[in-house]
Amino acid sequence: MKYYPVYLLLAGIVCTTITACTDKTNKATTIKSGTVWHDTGGTPINAHGGGIMHHDGVYYWYGEYKGDSTYWNPNVPHWECYRTEAGGISCYSSKDLCNWTFEGIVLEPEMTDTTSDLHYSHVLERPKVIYNDKTGQFVMWLHVDSDDYSKAAAGVAVCDKPDGKFTYLGSMRPNGQMSRDMTLFKDDDGKAYHIYSSEQNATLHISLLSDDYLHPTGHYTRNFINRHREAPAIFKHDQKYYMITSGCSGWNPNQAEYAIADSVLGIWTVKGNPCIGENSGQTFLAQSTFVLPVHGDKGSTYIAMFDRWNKTDLIDSRYVWLPIIFKGESMEIHWLPEWDVNAIK
Ligand code: DGJ
Repeated sequence: MKYYPVYLLLAGIVCTTITACTDKTNKATTIKSGTVWHDTGGTPINAHGGGIMHHDGVYYWYGEYKGDSTYWNPNVPHWECYRTEAGGISCYSSKDLCNWTFEGIVLEPEMTDTTSDLHYSHVLERPKVIYNDKTGQFVMWLHVDSDDYSKAAAGVAVCDKPDGKFTYLGSMRPNGQMSRDMTLFKDDDGKAYHIYSSEQNATLHISLLSDDYLHPTGHYTRNFINRHREAPAIFKHDQKYYMITSGCSGWNPNQAEYAIADSVLGIWTVKGNPCIGENSGQTFLAQSTFVLPVHGDKGSTYIAMFDRWNKTDLIDSRYVWLPIIFKGESMEIHWLPEWDVNAIK
């Protein structure tokens, strides 16, 4: 991995002219954080709290498909529980990270059975998908919850295709523990981990999954104890593990924090706020959801993905995607209103 001065990297990726923003086929080549993003059919992309899986040269973006009306849940008078009907989990595909094709709802909501985890009146958030090389299955984990967020569980679904209809297998409290905001991480050795806010969001658990990725093994660690971290996004760079998290303030933005470890299971060392520039004290008015390793010829590059929630109109929440820059072991994420994704591929 080559290290470039930060100012050179930033100069290279900032889009300075309109013509630099599309390629010869007039397709988008830049990322404009905070604006409405349309799919290739012209419809706003509806994939919130999501994650991306790269498989056979294609990026698959899975996210929360939000309903089109937001309301304050009357069952939860004591905190700002804005919510909307759960529309299941959407999938979009792209080869270039800028032009996304809607592949449909890959995990359908349940429309009649109110006892189902997937009933539209419940909470379906932060889906992540990884591929299991041994079973040949694509495995989705997601946060499933009751409408007042008291169930605090994780659901699992599988499919034999990345963009097919996933079969829901059910939910559990992993290792008998509460689970809300979550992500998955598949390591180079094929081991996979479920990372989730637990203990009433006070402590983040990192749990080793079974070889088929369908169950917790019972081996887990407690991290950032009583520090109330959520929205975990984890990646590996130069043999170190990095994790970005947010604080707990509902849909309202707060300051991000990142930590480094030599092992996924910890010990994690908190390094501070990686964000730099406009609104960096509030994560660019957004919240972390995933870090995407970019598969190109420029070595190890990563895109940090955030959600800029619109709590009173959740379907209109926007996406903030920014490149990660390393200075030795330290990472930085600079605010860029528009940048050319080809510069980091
Ligand atoms: C913050 C979480 O990060 C979101 O995914 C969502 O659960 C909201 N809280 C609900 O208020």
